[in-house]
Amino acid sequence: MSDPQATHLSDYRPPAYRVTRTELTFDLDPAATRVKARLHLERHPERDAGLPLTLHGEQLSLKAIALDGEPLEADEYEIDAAGLTVHRVPERFHLDTEVEIAPEANTALEGLYQSNGMYCTQCEAEGFRRITYYPDRPDVMATFSTTVIGDAEREPVLLSNGNPVERGALPNGRHFVTWEDPHPKPSYLFALVAGDLEKVEDSFTTMSGREVTLQIWVEEENLGKTEHAMASLKRAMAWDEQAYGREYDLDLFMIVAVNDFNMGAMENKGLNIFNSAAVLTHPHTATDAAFQRVESIVAHEYFHNWSGNRVTCRDWFQLSLKEGFTVFRDQCFSADTNSPAVKRIEDVSFFRTAQFAEDDGPTAHPVRPDHYIEIGNFYTLTIYEKGAEVVRMLANLVGEAAFRAGSDRYFERFDGQAVTIEDFVGCMAEASGLDLTQFMRWYDQAGTPEIDAHGEYDYANAEYRLILRQRTPATPGQPDKQPLHIPVRLGLVGTKSGRDLPLTLEGETLGSDAVIHLREAEQEFLFTDVSEAPVPSLLRGFSAPVKLRFPYGREDLAFLLAHDGDGFNRWDAGQRLAMLALDDLIAAHRNGVEKVMDTRVIEAFRGLLTAETDDRAVLAEMLTLPSEAYIAEQQPLVDVDAIHAARTFVKQGLATALRDDFLRVYRENRLDEPYAPTPAQIARRSLKNVALSYLMAIEDEEGIELARQQFEADHNMTDVRHALTLLTHSSRDELSEPALRAFGEKWAHDTLVMDQWFAIQVTRPQPDVLDRVKFLMAHPAFSLKNPNKVRALIGTFAGQNRVNFHRLDGEGYRLLADVVIELNRLNPEIAARLITPLTRWARFDEQRQALMKAELERIRAEELSPNVYEVVEKALA
Ligand code: ARG
Ligand code: ZN
Repeated sequence: MSDPQATHLSDYRPPAYRVTRTELTFDLDPAATRVKARLHLERHPERDAGLPLTLHGEQLSLKAIALDGEPLEADEYEIDAAGLTVHRVPERFHLDTEVEIAPEANTALEGLYQSNGMYCTQCEAEGFRRITYYPDRPDVMATFSTTVIGDAEREPVLLSNGNPVERGALPNGRHFVTWEDPHPKPSYLFALVAGDLEKVEDSFTTMSGREVTLQIWVEEENLGKTEHAMASLKRAMAWDEQAYGREYDLDLFMIVAVNDFNMGAMENKGLNIFNSAAVLTHPHTATDAAFQRVESIVAHEYFHNWSGNRVTCRDWFQLSLKEGFTVFRDQCFSADTNSPAVKRIEDVSFFRTAQFAEDDGPTAHPVRPDHYIEIGNFYTLTIYEKGAEVVRMLANLVGEAAFRAGSDRYFERFDGQAVTIEDFVGCMAEASGLDLTQFMRWYDQAGTPEIDAHGEYDYANAEYRLILRQRTPATPGQPDKQPLHIPVRLGLVGTKSGRDLPLTLEGETLGSDAVIHLREAEQEFLFTDVSEAPVPSLLRGFSAPVKLRFPYGREDLAFLLAHDGDGFNRWDAGQRLAMLALDDLIAAHRNGVEKVMDTRVIEAFRGLLTAETDDRAVLAEMLTLPSEAYIAEQQPLVDVDAIHAARTFVKQGLATALRDDFLRVYRENRLDEPYAPTPAQIARRSLKNVALSYLMAIEDEEGIELARQQFEADHNMTDVRHALTLLTHSSRDELSEPALRAFGEKWAHDTLVMDQWFAIQVTRPQPDVLDRVKFLMAHPAFSLKNPNKVRALIGTFAGQNRVNFHRLDGEGYRLLADVVIELNRLNPEIAARLITPLTRWARFDEQRQALMKAELERIRAEELSPNVYEVVEKALA
């Protein structure tokens, strides 16, 4: 087999022929589904006449082919592993094909496959070519008519995009439904679902008064788990009308929950397909975090109807055009419906841990990559989350009114088209009058920019001089970087008054919270009329996706933690303060020196615990130490054991010193009301549960009793799962084992809860956990074919149990590589994702590096899917 080849952005050309209308008929059968396609084609006006017609197609067995009704002779067309070429075609014509496919054998979960006996599809990015021969690229947009034929008993429900226009009975117990989607769409938005499903129905009246029917389709036993998703959908529909003026455009909007799904969900036109974990909730089975995740994913997929479907991407290099923008939209929606400060803190702490790591590793790529081997590998944190940060910067740069005007312009001008990132940014430039030329570098330059900042206060002249220096480290294929246009939001907090001071920059009054524009490699900003010595509060709200260093002393950070006018930066000051203490302890651990707890951290936490606050959710975040993964991101060389020891030491130190405060906070925040996923309740639960983790860190007897009671009280999954996690992580088997057993038995019938049961166990810090991972892989509830199970057990172990995954005997690495090798055959997309922890080998000591690389080499020796091939080649380059 020859090595897979890369596709390059610079090679983009419009297709030789476009499809104006697509008519499909599916005759469903697990082993031999027949797909008939009639494509109405015409030459693209920008391409030469007389070119052959090439259609994508993989793993299809062609049964018939005819052009304008005439069957083609064997020498008139050609088939290879990538598709079908018809040598001579007229300017306008229709092509009929019939192929056979085997959904039951499809373990890659791309194209048409079966999940729990039902049929479903996943076509983004290039799955449609596993269904029929087609120009499977997003710049080919056609209207679709789809007839689905199935068994009336096994598949009473037959769904596709758009509106149902005809249905009827057929001989042999078969029946059919025909769907018509009036909106031209690319093939990646095609969907089909067939099975024995039940629905929950509701309706929404749009701003122009149209009534839209809303349906959520699930297996019968899940009927009681759809309420939150439905409520979220209605909120999202109303929000998009109000925030962006965007109305839904069909009479029917459907969501389907499936158990086997590679990602979170998919925005197919009118028929969103969801991983059941991303749509089903119930107070007894889903945590607060899951409720919030469902709300944001339901909104995300709904928002795609405009940012993605009505206006789509010209090619897959523009993926962030729809994903970055849509993540930004769902983030704003969640901020508006919940606590904006907490939403931002959560998003940023995840971003700085996971996206920074991606940017810093061998798979680093720009928000708009310029080449790829397998596009399925580019559904990344950089495309999604960094893309969203770039849109957020744009929104902040141009201001609220111009951003809305720019987005209106974008949706109106490009409606029904497949466009580029330039088209989007161009609308923002036009609406605001700003020059965004330098800003465009954010899309093309990979890597996390680093800003080194320092400042001086001049008492005599009442001036504060701030010097910012930016630099973006080299990334694979991009050795030299240009300076970026970086918006830095800041304030100067007066050390006497404890207040944000009014800002005057180069004679201009800016208020007490301002954005300065860093464009040069080094730039100086002189603030005048600064009446007292300030501590600068920089990069407020994480105004740009960069690493910012400033030589803060611990007193400065304690001061900002107490006084910063920006809530986000108050939290960040606490994180920085904890990091300074952790750095010392990591060094002490490495040098075998006795660890000493920094009393300033204790005092800062005491201050937080005793101050009056009405924002419990933010307080819970402030009391949470940086994660081991985040700490690792800050170290030049990752020492997993030292990081674990240092963090545990700080946690225990705080718990010992502040035990009574934690106990009080726990008690004060217990709730008697029935569960609701409201911001107020979520805040109390998270604060109470943070307090309980501290008590359990020292295995305080009262804490243990509270954890046990919380587990047994069985109020809601948030509390139960948290208590179970704490009991499971304790050093005492008599606490963990009975609780795990009870939980596992109680929930054996609920696959989503069993995923949690797997995840909880494999994060145990105890060294025997690897045997448990292996043992659980043989558990009847586990299956390598189900991505949620793989993520819960293997992904969680490798990604979150850092000390045990990085064992010095290499057994953690070996286990992961074994799974990757097996999944490479079953599900290449999931296999490629799972490798991630091994690709980060360069961050570890030599011994671990050698072990990790040996496993990557072992994977490389296999016959690889393009997905795994691309990741492994980059990792070993
Ligand atoms: N567009 C979907 C979303 O963001 C994700 C599709 C992922 N597809 C894939 N092959 N990874 O909502
Ligand atoms: Zn998306």
